[in-house]
Amino acid sequence: MPEHFSIRGAKGRTLSGKIAVCGAKNAALKGVAASILFRTPLTLTNVPEIEDVSRMLEILRTMGAQITFGEHQATIDARGLSETTLTPDIAKRLRASIVLTGPILARHGFVRFPHPGGCVIGERPIDLFIEGYKKMGAQVKQSGKFYDIRAQRGGLRGAELFFRLQSVTGTETFMMAAVLAKGRTVIKNAAMEPEIKWLADLLNASGAHISGAGTPTITIEGGDPLDAQGKSFRVIPDRIEAGSFLILGALAAKRLLIDEMVPEHIESLIEILSATGVKIVRGERSLSVSAPKRWQTLRSVSVRTHEYPGLATDLQAPLTVFMTQALGESLVFETIFEGRLSYIESLNRMGANIAMMDPHRVLVKGPTPLSGKQLESPDLRAGLAFVIAAVTAEGTSVIHNIYNIDRGYERIEERLRAIGVDIVRAN
Ligand code: EPZ
Repeated sequence: MPEHFSIRGAKGRTLSGKIAVCGAKNAALKGVAASILFRTPLTLTNVPEIEDVSRMLEILRTMGAQITFGEHQATIDARGLSETTLTPDIAKRLRASIVLTGPILARHGFVRFPHPGGCVIGERPIDLFIEGYKKMGAQVKQSGKFYDIRAQRGGLRGAELFFRLQSVTGTETFMMAAVLAKGRTVIKNAAMEPEIKWLADLLNASGAHISGAGTPTITIEGGDPLDAQGKSFRVIPDRIEAGSFLILGALAAKRLLIDEMVPEHIESLIEILSATGVKIVRGERSLSVSAPKRWQTLRSVSVRTHEYPGLATDLQAPLTVFMTQALGESLVFETIFEGRLSYIESLNRMGANIAMMDPHRVLVKGPTPLSGKQLESPDLRAGLAFVIAAVTAEGTSVIHNIYNIDRGYERIEERLRAIGVDIVRAN
């Protein structure tokens, strides 16, 4: 029988204590993919022990890499990785597996992969990837369900790439491919997420020549396979987890300390919450937050998701839950993905007053008390938003499909219980 979470509402400002943030899923997954560029084993520490990371490691293992993983440390020896096909099974298991195409193509001169299947958060096309590979001199053939990408003799060539849209995995994939390409690659309108900068630092410390990561223009001078030189690399803290805990604390904590995180990675969320009246105290590697004594004192603000350093789309669902408890109207505009608002219906069943304006925008009217309900987690971020809604609600909520939550958050119920959330995992 699949597991579910049963959560009893917190009845006001009852949470307290300290919660440490785990390593970032979306950095760890790319670090694992980067191992393909190495002629030595690569060791990552502070790796979150979550389903998506296990799946990514499993994919590399089935493709021929040797892997050890435990106690938040992963060592990946990809020297024996010889497989150049990502099967539909692999692509379906993990959308992020698209980032493997860059390092595989750069190293082997060939990669075959299926069009990644539809996803609950929208279309997620791959046109930027196909166009980029062509610009690097590769031939692209579509045969049946698969794309066959073949570099020209001598390997990928450096190129000038301008991304029409800032794509996170696109930037990471081409940054990695360019490390082993011949000559210089320039990525313009590159994504600037902290995970990209972290990945570039890891590659540079191992012999790559990347400049500008964290800005819209990244330049990569191609070279030889990388050497970790016996070093290990610590995965940066998960800013989405940190931001979600901050929202939880702003709704239900007497005082919550969110620790082992980087406040400037969620600056835009801090600004938004502060504008609603939430009191946040910044430490160097922590934030402390309290819910107001009376929720009615929170003021709504309108928000739109944006590429980093703007408001992360991955924080959109938790922030919408927050807005249900703030006074006034908040327009929430999801600019990155269509289809990432499907959870709204469930919040309305809980008592929220949210009107769908179009596939990208909702209008939240608050404050509205929420009441416990049966919920299905549609994706991992909305899943955690439901956990926050359930804590805010009166009565008990049951959240199903929690595999989706386990994909991105490590031992979430244990960690939330430690700060006072009444949550149990059950069959
Ligand atoms: C990454 O997805 C993250 N995933 C997502 O996190 C995150 O929501 C997203 O970036 C935005 O921050 C990983 O890092 C594994 P994009 P990604 O390419 O890279 C369009 C989570 O829950 N686009 O930056 O797939 C695309 O449709 C996940 O952890 C094209 O049109 O997102 C979107 O509108 C969910 N063509 C926009 O670009 C392309 O070829 C930005 O998407 C590629 C993307």
